[in-house]
Amino acid sequence: MKKESDNRMEMSRRGFLKAAALTGVALCVSPALEKVQAAERAVSGKSSISAKDIPAGMTAVRNQRTLGKGKAAFTVSAMGFGCMGLNYHRSEHPDEAACIRLVHEAIERGVTLFDTAESYGPFTNEVLMGKALKGYTDKVCVTSKFGHKYVNGVQVKTEEDSSPANICKVCENSLRSLGVEKLDMFYQHRGDPNTPIEVVAETIAELIKEGKILHWGLCEVNTDTILRAHAICPITAIQSEYHLMHRTVEESVLPLCKELGIGFVPYSPINRGFLGGLINEHTKFSPNDNRQTLPRFQPDAIRQNLRIVEVLNQFGRTRGYTSAQIALAWLMHKGEFIVPIPGTTKLAHLEENLRATEIAFTPEELQELEQAVSAIPVVGSRYDALQESKVQK
Ligand SMILES: NC(=O)c1ccc[n+]([C@@H]2O[C@H](COP(=O)([O-])OP(=O)(O)OC[C@H]3O[C@@H](n4cnc5c(N)ncnc54)[C@H](OP(=O)(O)O)[C@@H]3O)[C@@H](O)[C@H]2O)c1
Repeated sequence: MKKESDNRMEMSRRGFLKAAALTGVALCVSPALEKVQAAERAVSGKSSISAKDIPAGMTAVRNQRTLGKGKAAFTVSAMGFGCMGLNYHRSEHPDEAACIRLVHEAIERGVTLFDTAESYGPFTNEVLMGKALKGYTDKVCVTSKFGHKYVNGVQVKTEEDSSPANICKVCENSLRSLGVEKLDMFYQHRGDPNTPIEVVAETIAELIKEGKILHWGLCEVNTDTILRAHAICPITAIQSEYHLMHRTVEESVLPLCKELGIGFVPYSPINRGFLGGLINEHTKFSPNDNRQTLPRFQPDAIRQNLRIVEVLNQFGRTRGYTSAQIALAWLMHKGEFIVPIPGTTKLAHLEENLRATEIAFTPEELQELEQAVSAIPVVGSRYDALQESKVQK
């Protein structure tokens, strides 16, 4: 007997075949459309999913955004999917079959950007995504990350490793775990003080030449590192923490990305779930959940920071939106070069979050929201001292 996940995959494949047939009809009557789709393919190397492949009425992300420019351009759904919490760092999670089903549901709803990393699990999140994306990688993209140091499978938390040998090793492992021939994008997860960024960029340029990766990016870096790296190998996107409770990137990183045509991928866009309003001082995080170690997720900080969630609730109440939707829509308004990657284990939250791509605010509304949130001081730092020491200032 076939498993439900197999059936679901077949259904999705049939959906795509049907969509491809319809696309064929559309191409006969619309040379302009053909040109647009050919351009999209040239940019992303994928046949991609367009809005008309998605059933009318289905909650979905129907628009795309381009991270990076020129040869570094990477066109993806305007909102991606952060895969980490499917089996790592976000407390109890559904079993593998349910996670795979959710990924397929995201694909059906237009999501084409899936974000994982060697360190999620570690190693197991990439394997899970390899299973989930089997049969779909001509349509959707998966990004992964290198740079943490592992000895016999155990992370050495005080060190990072972006040596060329390690980058190449992680690349091979990621390709194998994900079951793909090329990585759509490979990020450095954290800087390695022992490996100059120029050496990292040259190693990446070599992997691009070899056809093993298509694009690259950096996480939690400062403008100096971005400039030095970009001069050697054009960067597609910076992935750093950015949401209404952590806006540091607005000072210099975001303006530089805009100026250079580099994309920006805000991670933890709902502040690790906090802005979704389902966390309070009584919330128990399980041992696999890093939030239990973060100052901002200690009971007293949570209690005080809930005033910010209430601002979002208040703002959303008269407009018919949830606090998570307000948080995500605010990010989407910060620039066309921004693609948030919220994570979830639930179809209900996936749909809620994707709906945020349809929300339009006036500049006055955005200002009202920002003023109300800024009036409340954020309590507790986002990382502990060791983690904070690894993000560039
Ligand atoms: N580059 C880096 O250093 C870095 C660091 C951290 C994360 N990341 C990336 O960013 C992705 C997302 O980050 P994240 O998981 O830390 O934070 P997030 O996306 O801000 O929050 C995820 C949490 O929010 C909850 N949630 C999602 N939608 C919700 C909704 N509509 N209402 C209420 N709660 C909701 C999820 O729980 P449910 O499962 O219950 O929905 C989950 O626990 C990760 O998967 C990873 O790919 C990158």
